[in-house]
Amino acid sequence: MFYEKKSCRICGNKGLIPYLDMGNTPLANSLIVRSSEINNEKYFPLVVVYCPTCSLSQLSIVVEPSILYNHYIYHSSISKTFHEHCKQLAEYISSIILKGKIGFCVDIASNDGCLLTKFKNLSHKVLGIEPAKNLAKLSISTGIDTYNDFWNKKTAEKILQSYSHADIITSTNVFAHVDNLHEFLEGINILLSEDGAFIIEVPYMSELIKKNEFDTIYHEHLSYFLIKTLKILFEKHNLKILDIQKLPIHGGTIRVITVKYSNNNLSINKKGIDKFLNEEDNNGMYDIHTYKNLDIYAKKIKSEIFSLITNIKRQNKRISCYGASAKGITLLNYCKINYRMIDYIIDDTPQKQNCFAPGSHIPICSLKKLLESPPDYLLILAWNFAEEIMSKTKFYQNNGGKYIIPIPEVRLYEYSSK
Ligand code: TYD
Repeated sequence: MFYEKKSCRICGNKGLIPYLDMGNTPLANSLIVRSSEINNEKYFPLVVVYCPTCSLSQLSIVVEPSILYNHYIYHSSISKTFHEHCKQLAEYISSIILKGKIGFCVDIASNDGCLLTKFKNLSHKVLGIEPAKNLAKLSISTGIDTYNDFWNKKTAEKILQSYSHADIITSTNVFAHVDNLHEFLEGINILLSEDGAFIIEVPYMSELIKKNEFDTIYHEHLSYFLIKTLKILFEKHNLKILDIQKLPIHGGTIRVITVKYSNNNLSINKKGIDKFLNEEDNNGMYDIHTYKNLDIYAKKIKSEIFSLITNIKRQNKRISCYGASAKGITLLNYCKINYRMIDYIIDDTPQKQNCFAPGSHIPICSLKKLLESPPDYLLILAWNFAEEIMSKTKFYQNNGGKYIIPIPEVRLYEYSSK
């Protein structure tokens, strides 16, 4: 079901240093569908290690991808913020990289086709590669051509036989999920045209550290990237970084634009890339002590949330959560918060409703529940969408409902407008 990863997946170094142990936890997206499944839940170690050679942080184990992704519950299209993000990405690629030309755009792990829909709206030819059967089926039903498989060399060869080289390959929030990144990039080299661009978006380790986002560490996220690390990886695979952009989405993301070495059509933003590298160095991102501090901050947040919730419960007040996000489920489990303390979790994803959160066993409900049975406090587990969630729950705050936001530090929001 899982195997230990004893060497760095980028540079092969075996001298990895553990720095954060979040205990044994269930898989954050493996929601419990029937209460009878509760006793059969599987727990996996959640430990992060650091490679002093290339500064990659990675999990000490790899859970078999077939367990994680065969039926995937995360739907990109639920968030308005993400829709807007995809629209901007498609427009940016269309105008700056494709320079108005109509291209063949391939999205790896295309989920429900949210990004490809935006490319299609701009008249590009699109193809999704999606390993989860349920999501591939869903995106095909909305008119997005989708190939149901994992991305690797074999998939790249098959696509090339049936289609053509890709002008654009995107992979947003996928790279961190991949164990064999070398094979992944070999596949990119097969499908990407000589003058094409490969664009990734990944959570940025510098931001994770800066904002204590330890709850984004869970079994699906095998790697935690810095620019230094990505540069080493890409250079091993005939890819050069053209530009890097920092984006607020998902708590702090970097968009990295790469092309093949032989492609000189677009200019390299060397100054911008060097700035990232210098900042990483100056912020201690190449020093194990920085990472050991994350353990201290995580424990601090854990104790603060736990005592806040215990105090609220002592006053006989009620607490619910918003967003059955993987990070939220991780936070609850790490902080040892369960169904005895929290009444329910609201999530707008229909597939998550009527399930139970892994580990904490809190029931997941639709927004209707917040209207019918409002709590005194709402813990926003999807803190990366806090603004969007607060604005869609105005009715709750107008009736005196309070919010708790756990990351980067525990904060309480009260509105006096009754
Ligand atoms: P997200 O933070 O995108 O990802 P992860 O699971 O990787 O931590 O998850 C956000 C969750 O919050 C997702 O389950 C959808 C839910 N959500 C709503 O239910 N309503 C909303 O308005 C928003 C913005 C999110």
